Amino acid sequence: MKYGHFDDPRREYVVTRPDTPLPWLNYIGQEDYFGLCTNTAGGYSFWKDSRLRRLTRYRYNNVPYDLGGRYIYVNDAGTVWNPGWKPVKAELDSYECRHGMGYTKITGSKGGLEIELLFFVPLGRNEEIWKVTVRNRSKKRKSPRLFSYQEFCFYEALNDMTNYQRTYSIGEVEVEGSAIYHKTEYRERRNHYTLFACTRPIAGFDTDRDIFVGIHEGLHEARVPSSGKCAGSKAFGWNPIGAHEIDLDLAPGAEESFAFVLAYVEQGDRPRFEKPGLINKELGRQIVARYAKPGAVDAAFAELGRFWDDLLSNFQAELPDEHAARMLNAWNQYQCMATFNLSRSTSMYETGIGRGMGFRDSNQDILGFVHMIPARARERILDIASTQLSDGTCYHQYQPLTKKGNAEVGGDFYDDHLWLVLSTCAYVKETGDLSILEEPCGYADREYRIGADGRRAGAGGEPAESLLHHLELSIAYTMRKRGPRRLPLIGHADWNDCLNLNCFSTEPNESFQTAGVVGNSQAESVMIAGLFLHASREMSALYDFMKRPEDANRMLAQREEMLAAVESAGWDGDWYRRAYDAAGKPIGSKECEEGKIYIESQGWCVLGGAGADDASGPSRGRARKAMESVHKLLFTPKGVLIQQPAYSTYHVELGEVSSYPPGVKENAGIFCHNNTWIHLAWCQLGHGDRALEYYLSICPSAKQAEIDLYRSEPYVYAQMIAGRDAPCYGEAKNSWLTGTAAWTFVALTQGILGIRPDYRGLVVDPCIASAWKGFSATRRFRGAEYKIAVKNPKGRCKGVASVKVDGEAFDPVGAAAILPIFPAGTSHRIEIELG
Ligand code: GLC
Ligand code: GLC
Repeated sequence: MKYGHFDDPRREYVVTRPDTPLPWLNYIGQEDYFGLCTNTAGGYSFWKDSRLRRLTRYRYNNVPYDLGGRYIYVNDAGTVWNPGWKPVKAELDSYECRHGMGYTKITGSKGGLEIELLFFVPLGRNEEIWKVTVRNRSKKRKSPRLFSYQEFCFYEALNDMTNYQRTYSIGEVEVEGSAIYHKTEYRERRNHYTLFACTRPIAGFDTDRDIFVGIHEGLHEARVPSSGKCAGSKAFGWNPIGAHEIDLDLAPGAEESFAFVLAYVEQGDRPRFEKPGLINKELGRQIVARYAKPGAVDAAFAELGRFWDDLLSNFQAELPDEHAARMLNAWNQYQCMATFNLSRSTSMYETGIGRGMGFRDSNQDILGFVHMIPARARERILDIASTQLSDGTCYHQYQPLTKKGNAEVGGDFYDDHLWLVLSTCAYVKETGDLSILEEPCGYADREYRIGADGRRAGAGGEPAESLLHHLELSIAYTMRKRGPRRLPLIGHADWNDCLNLNCFSTEPNESFQTAGVVGNSQAESVMIAGLFLHASREMSALYDFMKRPEDANRMLAQREEMLAAVESAGWDGDWYRRAYDAAGKPIGSKECEEGKIYIESQGWCVLGGAGADDASGPSRGRARKAMESVHKLLFTPKGVLIQQPAYSTYHVELGEVSSYPPGVKENAGIFCHNNTWIHLAWCQLGHGDRALEYYLSICPSAKQAEIDLYRSEPYVYAQMIAGRDAPCYGEAKNSWLTGTAAWTFVALTQGILGIRPDYRGLVVDPCIASAWKGFSATRRFRGAEYKIAVKNPKGRCKGVASVKVDGEAFDPVGAAAILPIFPAGTSHRIEIELG
């Protein structure tokens, strides 16, 4: 591969040249403090909320794309360069970037000097470390000067990049020793600041961008690094930056290490000022002292490594396919953490000022994360539920800092609430913790106070409505919001944000998602119906587990009602229709000229149990037929198209879906997220060969052979790959923050490997490729370790023939093995033979 390779034992992707087809991104941070970091050290940092607490600046869609970041300039006897190549782009003698789990390590060398930069966020901390190691690999003494550089952001990122009449006049800093304190707006309402310090003595500093870079210069020709000397500038207004000068003197073969620390510091109840006008720097000094201790930085980095080892050890597997194996063992789980933390807020494609956390997105993200840190999943589920409104609709997005719904986008996306059922059931299956259902969440449009027990309570002290109340309301809401064919209404859109059947927009500047009135609309969604079949069955199983059979049956009765509507109004003859528009015309039907078949309704109707083999009457076997239509009409070797044929013109009655040029995004692109539902559907039908073939068709690791076409990172999923109607068929966009991460993890582990948590135990029911001779996996479940070895001597795809638990024969229930829940802390050998 031209640009790099996987280093699987270290769980790293090694980029071997800096000029990748697009900037290749990694994230640092795992809890509250996060940074983006590209393979040339581009990116920025924020605390919790990339809109409201942006710490460093970044200019999106820059020229070149990725400019600005955590830069170290070197001036070695007049030659200026950066170990990460950018921004100077001097030719390097060697370059390597290792993106790993929670860190990025970039090493560059030139003229006998080697510099290694390691960026990471220590566990549980609100700061990032830039560890710098400088090695003199030449035979001469060297006295290089290093300059750190990053630009401070004034926290509210939108204002910061738009309101210069104010921002050019408010920037303020203080400097003490090697520490630069960015204190803009601290004089008024802020009780926090940003610190940028060095753990070793510095030879100088700058805090004024105009002095360090220049007015007419670019970052590639910044003045101070070229001159070789910091000017000691103190920013007053304009654009404060943090820059340090480090003068080194290295004998041949000598090496020196030190670190920069960039920290977000909240004062809490401490005195805000130490003297009039001077901020209280007590916490900042403590942070600098912490990392100045010998070994402290390395210890923090080692702790991060142990954290990831432990986290990933919840699920590890040895698989015959190297792509599937490395995605499962490291990168897919790692990406699930990123989507859980950041939803769709901030990446190379999301600026962190647009969307906060999505309701449907965050619920789906939990599916790929809950096995790692269930306690955080629990907290998130309760936060999300609290943004539901008391009539059942949900705020489509909310801000992580305030946990409040975003009023600009509002609600009325009629799929949102159903995803809460899926995330909650996944959590209970993983943990067995039914207490979450009793947690008082309350609704976003009601007033609560904190009750005597520290929880949300109503005016009379009664607990706020529980999570179970929310789930019930969600099911009831879909039942209530149904149209003329008894299918669910669609509202502004369902999962497909671009199917805007009530929008009728002719105004170029309005949003497809919020324009239009959904009030009296009759437009219906077959996909929501399919999702409901699944969600109501999940609710029923949950009630069974709670020993509430009547409620379980009530759920099944509602499901039957929906199933009847799906089979009567949703079936098109060879596949399931997608929707009915506001005028009652089918979408995703043979009757349409374009958009005849859509992927989402095939996925969800099949997963919801429509058209099953054991159904009675005409609907029997429709699932298989629908999936064969997918194979014939939508499958390509580069992934499954979302819909065909592409819309060639704008259709006012369909909205944004028809706004995209044919072959991209929702207009016939390969939208990887929904591909995974098809992977699961093939597994449900026992078609392991197709499941694997489809899985590999979108697997980033498998794209290395055509990377100049694919362009995006080969280690994380992208939201979209251009479909065959596009001139760039096969090119990926929107990598990192996509529901594909969680759903692929579900498809691979629960579908193909068939290892899925259930209320009663751990189910193992693989659906593998017939060529696989077997596989093994270690899964931690409810505190116990399951060491699973699957053998496939007869070349089957599916069907458990025998099970041994710790060497003893074990009677499988039905065709799947439901393994018992073992005591926490124990380890068990499970041997399974397919046949
Ligand atoms: C994006 C959105 C997601 C939506 C999908 C399809 O990924 O974040 O909410 O379901 O697009 O439109
Ligand atoms: C989803 C879609 C995108 C659309 C957006 C609107 O992310 O993928 O095409 O523009 O929703 O919110």
